[in-house]
Amino acid sequence: TSNQMWGGRFAAGPDAIMEAINASIGFDKRLAAQDIAGSRAHAAMLAATGILSDSDAEAIRKGLLTVLSEIEGGTFEFSTALEDIHMNVEARLKEVIGEPAGRLHTGRSRNDQVATDFRLWVRDQLDAAEAGLEALMKALLAQAEAGADWVMPGFTHLQTAQPVTWGHHMMAYVEMFSRDLSRVRDARKRMNESPLGAAALAGTGFPIDRQMTAEALGFAAPMANSLDAVSARDFALEFLSVASISAMHLSRFAEELVIWSSAQFRFVTLSDRFSTGSSIMPQKKNPDAAELIRAKIGRIFGANVALMMVMKGLPLAYSKDMQEDKEQVFDAADNWMLALAAMEGMVRDMAANVPALEAAASAGFSTATDLADWLVRETGLPFREAHHVTGTLVAMAESRGCDLPDLTLADMQGVNGAITEGIFDVLGVHNSVASRVSYGGTAPAQVRAQVARWKEILQ
Ligand code: ARG
Repeated sequence: TSNQMWGGRFAAGPDAIMEAINASIGFDKRLAAQDIAGSRAHAAMLAATGILSDSDAEAIRKGLLTVLSEIEGGTFEFSTALEDIHMNVEARLKEVIGEPAGRLHTGRSRNDQVATDFRLWVRDQLDAAEAGLEALMKALLAQAEAGADWVMPGFTHLQTAQPVTWGHHMMAYVEMFSRDLSRVRDARKRMNESPLGAAALAGTGFPIDRQMTAEALGFAAPMANSLDAVSARDFALEFLSVASISAMHLSRFAEELVIWSSAQFRFVTLSDRFSTGSSIMPQKKNPDAAELIRAKIGRIFGANVALMMVMKGLPLAYSKDMQEDKEQVFDAADNWMLALAAMEGMVRDMAANVPALEAAASAGFSTATDLADWLVRETGLPFREAHHVTGTLVAMAESRGCDLPDLTLADMQGVNGAITEGIFDVLGVHNSVASRVSYGGTAPAQVRAQVARWKEILQ
């Protein structure tokens, strides 16, 4: 038997393989709520413009609510023969209300329907990402506030560079996630236009009111070109690229947590709630959540590339290739939200090991730059020469197996006669961080100012 929605010109039904490759209901059932919202807006508009009678519109409205409650209640029977969510909902509506169901699709196509549903779904995910990012930023702020003056090593090349504060390191991520947040808001604003009423590709001769359906669905405006409306998937690609960048930030932080929680670093203790054990090694506590967050960028960026490849050669307007957009976006969205929530939980629970951080900050000649700066300030030596003098002192300390503050004044004066006792004031890590008061620097006073600024912004 041929398809009940479009089988008029067909004598035979599809092969089982055709049905399998064609059907999207297995995944696009996730668009059910959006599909029904879109249909309700469309039916209300058809009645308001006199295209549909009020009694038919009312039957459709009630019927759609029944279908929605069946789907939400888990009693709805999805059919692969009906291909996708749009035809599954409409076929059930027909069973529930009869003949008026057949009038719902007036002036509409599945092409503008799916574009509308998908935009609504992605818009919800952008809102969820906004909430997830804000929650994570608040968790980071709490850590930064607690540890505005805890000293730890700052790294370049993962080699000890200069002492920084724990709070400063946490606030670096607040800045990164705030840019993700602004990308989310920006993408939401750009994508929030309604494709509904573009119909198959060319618009329709029925006197529809696209402004009305756009408003009903919370869109800022109807899309201005019907070909574009059914063809565009850049909103989904933008979602995936925003998600990719954010997942990259999550992954970098996750990598740091993996390193920091190792026995060799012991910078942090992750909570039991966000760690796992080993089935063979009884002593193990593994940072699995961090490792999995680190890995999520793989599938999220993979989705971005996959959809870009699907779209890149498609002529206007709709092609069935575009049905492949959904699984990529669903998977990326699920994993981005999960990674945000897991990171927030880990950050809230983790305990910094303050003595270990401070010991590590003091090792590795981390205040060598402070020593060179002191020479410039106090003796007038050009920086390049001060750099050289300091390098000689570092080599001396290294050969003796001690740190810079362990050298005697006589040792130092042997290298540069202008050095005085005052140099020892800048060799301690607390003095070092306290001195870095330039705007955006690591000094506790700067960190506290940034924490205050962000608390205000996030209320
Ligand atoms: N299931 C389809 C999709 O996800 C809906 C649109 C189908 N349109 C069509 N002309 N066959 O893209």
